[in-house]
Amino acid sequence: MTASNPLEETKTTNKIAAPCIMVIFGATGDLTGRKLLPALYNLGREGQLPPHFACVGFARRDKTNEIFRTEMHDDINLYSRVKPIEENLWNNFQQQLFYHCSEFHDDDGYIRLRQFLQELDHKLDTKGNRVFYLSTQPSYFPLIVEKLHKNGLIYSPEDNSKWSRVIIEKPFGRDLTSAQDLQKHLSQYLDESQVYRIDHYLGKETVQNLLVFRFTNPIFESVWNNLYVDNVQITVSEEMGIGTRGNFFEEAGLLRDIVQNHVMQLLSLVAMDPPSSMHAHAIHREKIKVMESIRPIPREQFDTHVVRGQYGPGYINGAAVCGYRQEQNVPPDSCVETYVALQFFIDSWRWAGVPFFLRAGKRLPKRATEIAITFKNAPTFLFKDTGRPIDQNVLVIRIQPDEGISFKMNCKVPGLSAQIQPVKMDFRYGSYFGMSPPEAYERLLCDCMTGDSTLFARSDEVMSSWKLFTPILDYWKNTSADFPNYSAGTWGPEAADQMIMREGRRWRLI
Ligand SMILES: NC(=O)c1ccc[n+]([C@@H]2O[C@H](COP(=O)([O-])OP(=O)(O)OC[C@H]3O[C@@H](n4cnc5c(N)ncnc54)[C@H](OP(=O)(O)O)[C@@H]3O)[C@@H](O)[C@H]2O)c1
Repeated sequence: MTASNPLEETKTTNKIAAPCIMVIFGATGDLTGRKLLPALYNLGREGQLPPHFACVGFARRDKTNEIFRTEMHDDINLYSRVKPIEENLWNNFQQQLFYHCSEFHDDDGYIRLRQFLQELDHKLDTKGNRVFYLSTQPSYFPLIVEKLHKNGLIYSPEDNSKWSRVIIEKPFGRDLTSAQDLQKHLSQYLDESQVYRIDHYLGKETVQNLLVFRFTNPIFESVWNNLYVDNVQITVSEEMGIGTRGNFFEEAGLLRDIVQNHVMQLLSLVAMDPPSSMHAHAIHREKIKVMESIRPIPREQFDTHVVRGQYGPGYINGAAVCGYRQEQNVPPDSCVETYVALQFFIDSWRWAGVPFFLRAGKRLPKRATEIAITFKNAPTFLFKDTGRPIDQNVLVIRIQPDEGISFKMNCKVPGLSAQIQPVKMDFRYGSYFGMSPPEAYERLLCDCMTGDSTLFARSDEVMSSWKLFTPILDYWKNTSADFPNYSAGTWGPEAADQMIMREGRRWRLI
């Protein structure tokens, strides 16, 4: 299907979510209780849910609406960004929550679901509109979409009287071929305008601010190019190990889990050209131009320009922690990576010659996601007698935690000497705006209900990312790794330092 629905061309501002029912497949799972229901509750608190709304949880365990509501109440109390739950709000909210018990493969369950949703439409005036959230193992995505279509739950995108949209959790495939297969399958039943591929990083306030920061502050945008920028570093570091997610992580690895999606989304937003408008299609067009301009790393450089690592035992905040191979559900000889560093070049007029260094890892000393733009040195002859080299300007966009933006510049130290010292201008969201930003899932669920796909990944973005990484994953599969190669609580393998030092740069100290 190729036609697109004009109703989907919604702007990114002044959102008013249309009446609808959200069906969550996998409603007894971890993500639903930890993220999705708290997000819906908070949207309700802030008056952002449509006035006519219901949420139906779909899973196989047998339970009543009442039990489902009680479980969700407890999860919201535990995980909502605003705690404790406000009981008067909850009392209204819970009346919009329902549970539907069925197996994903069972047609009868979908027929009953369709009838139930129609009853709710009559009762709650939800106008037939549907969001289907696939919060399930990825292997179920094709089956559920096929069953939804077969049982009349997906509407034609040309139907202007009501709409159906499908939110797909990550990961979207595990390499280029599987992603293409999944896409081929989905496009038998869904138009691209009906598919919302979640990358929750895109829902973060600080990520959305990237476009505002870049395109409303010409002072920065005018130096956002290879004439002024020396290098760009994107870091996603986590203190946490893999916890109880050993089974999942053994299948995924860090490149699939973090780099291929989140890091590449950050990269494309940092590097893209100004879009012609803030419409989803205009922004996607610029992002895909970046993705397609990234120079693939040649095979002969896989050992030097890409570094994989795995943590061994070490210390985090003074406490001893085990190595990855000792984690629950991880084999003692696992070669799955928990750290990746690599460098890309973007072959575009704007970025020619500027290295982009990316690193992400688990069990690093600090939790931090940031983008650091280091600017070129000023000519040094004027201040060459000041006793120390002059620092480069660095603009740091802190995505999480401690969300904000800082700028490092040079300043004369007061007094009679000619000493120069770097100082920092710092903007912090928390202290400036005095409020916690909405959770990424709040923004993304709201956007889907308004039909705004700007903050979701389009299929061509996903495919071009897989094109870059699949050869690397294949190479890793067929070559042995000398793991573990960094201790928990350190900044990753030595080879990552060597990689960046070969380019005459260093990783930023965070
Ligand atoms: N958890 C996270 O932090 C996180 C973060 C990012 C992305 N994700 C993605 O989100 C998705 C869901 O993750 P999760 O951690 O919530 O998964 P999960 O805890 O394993 O939950 C799976 C859900 O699917 C249901 N289910 C499984 N097989 C079924 C079947 N045959 N018929 C009906 N229901 C069935 C389970 O229902 P029963 O309980 O009734 O068996 C359960 O509700 C995955 O794609 C994951 O990659 C998760």
